[in-house]
Amino acid sequence: MKITMIGTGYVGLVTGVCFAELGHMVTCLDINEEKIAVLKKGVSPIYEAGMDELLPKNIEVGRLSFTTSYAEAIPEADLVFICVQTPSGEYGKANLSYVYAAVRECARHLDGYTVLINKSTAPVGTVHAIKKFLKEVAPEKDCDVASNPEFLAEGVAIKDFLEPDRVIVGVESSRAETALKEAYFPLIEKGYPFLVTIPQSAELMKYASNSFLAMKLSFINEVADFCELVGADIKEVAYGMGLDKRIGTKYLQASIGFGGSCFGKDVRALIHRGEEEGYEFRMVKALIAVNNVRYLTTINKLKKHLGNLKGKTIAVLGLAYKAGTDDTRDSQSLRIIFELLDHGADVRATDPKAIDHFKTLFPRADEVNFFEKPQEAAQGADALLILTEWDEYKNLDLTALKNVMTGTVIVDGRNLYDRKNIEAAGFMYEGIGR
Ligand code: UDX
Repeated sequence: MKITMIGTGYVGLVTGVCFAELGHMVTCLDINEEKIAVLKKGVSPIYEAGMDELLPKNIEVGRLSFTTSYAEAIPEADLVFICVQTPSGEYGKANLSYVYAAVRECARHLDGYTVLINKSTAPVGTVHAIKKFLKEVAPEKDCDVASNPEFLAEGVAIKDFLEPDRVIVGVESSRAETALKEAYFPLIEKGYPFLVTIPQSAELMKYASNSFLAMKLSFINEVADFCELVGADIKEVAYGMGLDKRIGTKYLQASIGFGGSCFGKDVRALIHRGEEEGYEFRMVKALIAVNNVRYLTTINKLKKHLGNLKGKTIAVLGLAYKAGTDDTRDSQSLRIIFELLDHGADVRATDPKAIDHFKTLFPRADEVNFFEKPQEAAQGADALLILTEWDEYKNLDLTALKNVMTGTVIVDGRNLYDRKNIEAAGFMYEGIGR
């Protein structure tokens, strides 16, 4: 099939590359000329496992191409996937201006029957709103609108696409259903669940899934804090809970709090969409309230050992919001470092992939010193914070760290270490919930 992806962010690029890998002819469109120029050379602007192999491979075999031109990418396409950003607008409302800009451009160039699929995370009702919009601006076009939410987690996005837990499509015509089935046929054939529903349900499945996962995280973080008060160990508590198949062990790792471009944004958008209907999502509001102040737990652990943080040197290991990505959007590291700077601390930060991205997002980056290796960042530090669960941070040379640091405090925000080992190396240990 001929497929066009609009937007070459994490979702658009991964999905486009994977559809090409499944055998379709894919054109990826983006209005950012620089990005398209780099992609045409087979170079990925993002760090994502497997991308460096699949991107050049599919360009070479002629199934994947890139363009900035709607006139080139739309008329021939059977399916057009909209994968543009839907950032948080006022009061958390999802900002759909990029979606509508893309739909408007598509409308000008649609030729023959086409299915326009919204993959951008957009509130319940967006498919119907796009349909209405198209009726107004391009009533003569033969086009169906559908929803196909993405469930790709960064770092494992290619695997998530090629081995999905489920593919969900929200459609209102059998023509659109048939076209989407054909696009996903290689996955359906392998037995991955393909769920066909109405657009409103598909749209809500995405928000409800992300909110539920985020709720698990805030819940386990609250239990972790209570563990510290009563002498329990959250790792054991979470494992014991997770053995109950109704609960499951995933998304129960207590931490410094969740980050990333999706959870916070989507949760706020769901609350806002509820309010538009006069409905209050009380549990969803609570989960975001817990996460909003989560960074203070880390700051308070430092204060417990160092007292006033003014003039103290803090080594920060990890800027990405999780391991496996160079993305720092909504990373807890941003909030924690901001707070450290506000307290007058000197921050020495490191990350194997995300330093460049952090510098583009963090307004006070010039006040932070960056280093390539943990041991360099730890030089002269009063305390060391582990904020991202990178493999590189799982086997730190504790003796070498002890030699270069001034102080002896390690705050392990991802519970990578056992207290016994850290204390045996001469440090004071602060984990999460243990
Ligand atoms: C998420 C969803 O998983 C994905 O399905 C959706 O399409 C997009 O949003 P992503 O934001 O890439 O994906 O990251 P995810 O792996 O879900 O992690 C989100 C945050 O939760 C990270 O900050 C991570 O460190 C944190 N987390 C995750 C925990 O603190 N503990 C856990 O047990 C799991």
